[in-house]
Amino acid sequence: MEARNSWRFVLLLALVLLLTWLHLPSLPNSKFHSRWYIPKNTFYSSSPTYHHLESETPQHPLDPLTIQEFNRVRTILSSHPLFKSSSSYTLNSVVLEEPDKKLVLKWKKGDPPLPRKASVVAVVKRVSHVLTVDLEIGHVTSHETGLVSGYPMVTERDLYGVGEATLRCPEFNNSLAKRGLNLDDLVCLSLSSGGYEKLEEEENRRLMKVQCFSKEGTVNFYMKPIEGFTALVDIDSKEVLAVSDDGKNIPVANASNTDYRYSIQKLRGEMRLLNPISLEQPKGPSFSVDGHMVKWANWEFHLRPDPRAGIIISQVKVRDPDTSMLRNVMYKGFVSELFVPYMDPTEDWYFRTYIDAGEYGLQSMPLNPLNDCPRNAYYMDGVFASYDGTPYLQPNMICIFESYAGDIAWRHAEATVASLNVSEARPKVTLVVRMAAILENYDYIMDWEFQTDGLIRAKVGLSGILMVKGTTYENMDQVNLKRQETAPGESPRKSYLKAVRKVAKTEKDAQIRLQLYEPYEFHVVNPLKKTKVGNPVGYKLVPGATAGSLLDPEDLPQKRAAFTNNQIWVTPYNKSEQWAGGLLAYQSKGDDTLQVWSNRDRGIENKDIVLWYTIGFHHIPCQEDYPIMPTVSSSFDLKPVNFFERNPILAVPPNFEEDLPASKAHDSA
Ligand SMILES: *[C@@H]1O[C@H](CO)[C@@H](O)[C@H](O)[C@H]1NC(C)=O
Ligand SMILES: *[C@@H]1O[C@H](CO)[C@@H](O)[C@H](O)[C@H]1NC(C)=O
Ligand SMILES: *[C@@H]1O[C@H](CO)[C@@H](O)[C@H](O)[C@H]1NC(C)=O
Ligand SMILES: *[C@@H]1O[C@H](CO)[C@@H](O)[C@H](O)[C@H]1NC(C)=O
Repeated sequence: MEARNSWRFVLLLALVLLLTWLHLPSLPNSKFHSRWYIPKNTFYSSSPTYHHLESETPQHPLDPLTIQEFNRVRTILSSHPLFKSSSSYTLNSVVLEEPDKKLVLKWKKGDPPLPRKASVVAVVKRVSHVLTVDLEIGHVTSHETGLVSGYPMVTERDLYGVGEATLRCPEFNNSLAKRGLNLDDLVCLSLSSGGYEKLEEEENRRLMKVQCFSKEGTVNFYMKPIEGFTALVDIDSKEVLAVSDDGKNIPVANASNTDYRYSIQKLRGEMRLLNPISLEQPKGPSFSVDGHMVKWANWEFHLRPDPRAGIIISQVKVRDPDTSMLRNVMYKGFVSELFVPYMDPTEDWYFRTYIDAGEYGLQSMPLNPLNDCPRNAYYMDGVFASYDGTPYLQPNMICIFESYAGDIAWRHAEATVASLNVSEARPKVTLVVRMAAILENYDYIMDWEFQTDGLIRAKVGLSGILMVKGTTYENMDQVNLKRQETAPGESPRKSYLKAVRKVAKTEKDAQIRLQLYEPYEFHVVNPLKKTKVGNPVGYKLVPGATAGSLLDPEDLPQKRAAFTNNQIWVTPYNKSEQWAGGLLAYQSKGDDTLQVWSNRDRGIENKDIVLWYTIGFHHIPCQEDYPIMPTVSSSFDLKPVNFFERNPILAVPPNFEEDLPASKAHDSA
């Protein structure tokens, strides 16, 4: 089953980096501008509205800094000795410094506003400074430096500066030209250096790596890496410290079939498309947004955009239906960090160990109305500070909408006493707060979802484009994931993950209990049928939340329900083996169960097989289950792996306004 034949790229576990540059207020219109790819949102149509924000005053102690407040912070800082004496500094972060929790909890609408403060992180002459600016008294009231190692998030100016510096380096240009590349097709990215300082002269510097791609023939330049070519640049002095060029023999991939835009997809005639679909709200949405306060059904919370966390949800309260009292559920919720270590210890990849929120910030581009969020969505803008403290707008950054997926909130029909004629069910509607953070090639969809039964679900969706590695290989093998140690001196990385293939040959090999620290992917493949690049076609089983049985295996009920001994089983197909607890389960003794069949340990390789998956719940009852229980669910997925040649929903059209039924959208800010 080991096949080492044909594969163009090694596709690695992918997530990645960098904030987008769409919002740049005033960058020099240099040549470099045209080389650094600036993504555009094809479907975004409504024009950003700045005006309503300019006169905005904070209405709640946790409201983000306003445009006037950002400007005031700049003025106050400009007379501070730290900034007065240095012409070169960056304000890497300027955000609200939240008042003490005690004060916020005591504050009520109508009370005098709490004193407003800003928290500033700056880099001045290679040193990080953390300052508090008191906006009432107009002074810096706290200034700390040197307490911990590290630097703040990079700014857009850092990214551009590094890019420009790199292109001014003849060694960089010459090496690229020597590879026969047309420099006009280049797209170069400034990447976090991962905290590795290999040489003494690299210490105490802010460092970035620069790597390039070719956009010749495609917008999806990530599929055309210029492999084995990395520059190391000092962010502050703009010196190119090193250029490594060890991939000269690795070809740049062909652009064919890499473009993902709707406008260029060809839909084959036999594909059945969906009719337009949209949620009807004849009376309009049932949530309200007042400044940054959101109210919906029994929920109330404060919502603010943040340049690092993306979304910060605060003071989440739910109304108790018995007392009508609003009750505190969560003081503050946000994505604190996001770690994306690529599993490749080689020279041009080992440093890709992104800590995305803290290195770049979870920023976004405007959401795509009708497609990122449904028609009934409300959009909230973000206002952030640029590298010199000037405020800028991040339009349509967050959306809020009600979601109805046709699910059931609770139900019961009375079958025991037919004469009672009872059938009760309630539809499940939820409120979703969403943003999409774009970290260069990767997109993270962050959802906070509120249910009327009191449940809050925090969900992260991953989309975007893989970071692929150019190679001379044309094949890949895969499967279970293992930690690998590097040999001393081999790489600055100590460890990485490697996929190791293991084929379950008999039934006992496939009796599987899930383990977090010995993770597997479970593929069902047909080794006789391969994709064009040589992967066996298959589907994978993706387990969800589940629970194992805690009964003793020799306990009678456990013997009878022995299928709960494992989460996954595979048996050869046998028409008589259908019922995991036995055909005659009633008063059975456990002699005809999945465990008994599987213990015969028959061969399952290259056979017609049956895959069994056990979903488990431990239900420790709670009062909310009374008198009738809100729906609790779990699931697993069967997901294609190398079943299709590529993303099978590329050619599907997006939603267009004119296709949807007339219904009222929420008035956005
Ligand atoms: C490198 O190439 C870029 C793009 O062609 C050009 O603008 C720049 O002047 C070149 N730099 C050097 C040092 O040759
Ligand atoms: C890229 O691939 C396409 C389709 O396989 C082929 O027609 C084309 O000639 C290739 N281009 C290059 C530059 O190899
Ligand atoms: C049971 O209730 C349903 C809905 O109210 C009604 O349509 C149906 O006729 C009732 N059946 C009987 C047997 O009463
Ligand atoms: C099919 O299943 C039945 C019931 O478990 C068993 O008696 C029989 O031996 C099985 N046949 C094969 C070929 O495994």
